[in-house]
Parts: sequence; C-alpha cells; structure tokens
Amino acid sequence: MNKIILFGSTGRLGREIHNALSMNDGAKIIAPTRDIVDLTRDYVIMEFLEDHAPDMIINAAAMTNVLECETNLFTMDVNRNAPYIMAEYCKLNNCKLLQISTNYVFGKIASQVLNTHCVVQIDTIKEQPFKPQSKYGWSKAYAEMDIQSMLNSDDYRIVRVQNLYGGTGNNDTIPIRVLRQSKNPPITYSNIRVKPTRVTPLANAICTLFRCDNSGIVWLRDNTIEHICSNEYLYEKEFIESVMITCGIKGKMVLVDNPLRPDVILRPTITLPGYKSLWE
Ligand SMILES: NC(=O)c1ccc[n+]([C@@H]2O[C@H](COP(=O)([O-])OP(=O)(O)OC[C@H]3O[C@@H](n4cnc5c(N)ncnc54)[C@H](OP(=O)(O)O)[C@@H]3O)[C@@H](O)[C@H]2O)c1
Repeated sequence: MNKIILFGSTGRLGREIHNALSMNDGAKIIAPTRDIVDLTRDYVIMEFLEDHAPDMIINAAAMTNVLECETNLFTMDVNRNAPYIMAEYCKLNNCKLLQISTNYVFGKIASQVLNTHCVVQIDTIKEQPFKPQSKYGWSKAYAEMDIQSMLNSDDYRIVRVQNLYGGTGNNDTIPIRVLRQSKNPPITYSNIRVKPTRVTPLANAICTLFRCDNSGIVWLRDNTIEHICSNEYLYEKEFIESVMITCGIKGKMVLVDNPLRPDVILRPTITLPGYKSLWE
C-alpha cells in the first residue's frame, strides 16, 4: 500500500483532495492536522515524515489570506520553508512531492506567458521571472523555485490553481464574502478577471495526475508544472452576480479599487484535458 501524507486536509482544497484520494484503494492517507504538525516548525515536519516514511507528500497547506500574509511573521515559514523541508525529505528518501501553488506567482505577466497554449514550462518562467504583487505570491513563488532546484522532474509536480470556491475552509472566497456582505449591502467587487474553479472537480482532476496502485505511484503526465482551473474567464462582477442569483441574494454592487491588484491581471488560462469546465 502506498503511503500518502496530505498536509492542509482541513482546508478548502485539502478536504476535497482527501475525499478524492479516499476513493483510491492503493493509497493509505495520513492527514496530519495543525495540532499534530505545525508547519512553522521544521523539525516537527521532518520528524513526522521520517516516522511515517511516505511514498508521496501532497502539500495543500498554506497561509492563504493574502492581506494577512503581508504582515504575519510566519508567512515564509509556512508557505516557503515547510515545502522546502518536504522537498528535502523527498530528495533523500525516494518520495514524490505534489505542491499546490497559485496564479499569484504572476503579477502582470508578459504576452509570452499568456500565449503559451498549455502548461507554462520551467524555462519560460526562468526567462520571464515571476512578478508577484504580494508577500503571499512571493512565498509561493519561492517555494516553487526551491522545489524545482532541489528535485528531479520525476520527483515533483507543482499544480497552480486559482479562484477556488465550494467546499469549506478558512479562505475567504468570493461566495463567502458575498454572503457576509449581503447582510450589509452594498456588495463590493473589483475589476479583476477570475476563473472560478469549484474545488470538488478540481481535487478529482489533481488526483488524475498520478496513478497509485501495486506498482507504486506513477505520474501520468510529463509536465512538472500544471495549471488547473476553470475555462471560464469572468469579471469578478459576473462571478458575484451569479453567486447572488444562485443564493437568492439581492443587493447593490459597488466597484472598489483593490490596492494589491490595481489592474486586470491576465494569467495563464489552462485546463487539464478532460476537465473543460470546472465552473458551474
Ligand atoms: N483558495 C483559493 O482561491 C486559492 C487560489 C490559488 C491557490 N490556492 C492554493 O491552494 C492551496 C489550498 O488553499 P485553500 O483555499 O484550501 O486554503 P485554506 O482553506 O486556507 O486551507 C489552508 C490549510 O493550510 C493549513 N495550515 C495553514 N497554516 C498551517 C500551519 N502553520 N500548520 C499546519 N497547517 C497549516 C490550514 O490548517 P488549519 O485548518 O489548522 O488552519 C488548512 O488546512 C494553497 O496552497 C493555496 O495557496 C488557493
């Protein structure tokens, strides 16, 4: 039986990955919560990994509140150092790492990246450096760079996701914001474009990146970096309006400037084959 350690299983995406993995008879899932492994503590992470000797680590844990990440002293510990320790373990112990990352590693990105039809390859990224616009974005970008420099292509996958909704978790997603603000209208939106991606099919899509059976864990696609998200490219206003319709909320909407993201930021618009729309 292959042992998979899943970090972040109490989060919005982690919960769904846990559910998707549970369908796989070939996987024994170990999902330590924060009280068992606090990801700010390197030696606790390493000790836990050594004790359980996993064949694969899936890291869906992160500090995800972008504003809080600007000032919280643990941002780099959780978002960069913890995956570094995981990668270090993988390097020494023949273990695979699947790191969940984000489109926030990009800020305003060049046409070169926009035009790539599928997966943004590592060399492209090197030529066209990340331009995160927040400490959160930098912490995730550094984690990607560390993993890429430490591990061979067969040992890791980085999956960038964006605009998650559905399920439950700490992350204050648009639907939650709408529901909260609906008690005190108006409902605010910014003029960014988003690709709302529902977490359940996303988690299923992530789990199709590898096979896990008697022969071990095998990657099923060659790309080391994948973008998995909905095909729909909506202005935030459209997304919020559709949430309001679905939830039967009536309210006035007001455009606000978002100081962290002043412009409409275009990002790679990639969907895993077979998952044309993760938005419904
Ligand atoms: N949500 C989005 O729209 C979005 C967009 C792009 C990328 N992502 C990426 O997707 C991944 C999952 O995000 P999410 O939305 O599922 O996040 P989330 O709901 O905020 O969950 C974060 C998870 O990380 C855990 N965690 C945070 N700090 C920890 C610590 N010090 N020690 C142990 N565990 C800790 C949390 O545990 P607790 O339950 O104990 O807090 C929780 O399980 C992250 O890598 C994020 O960067 C998300």
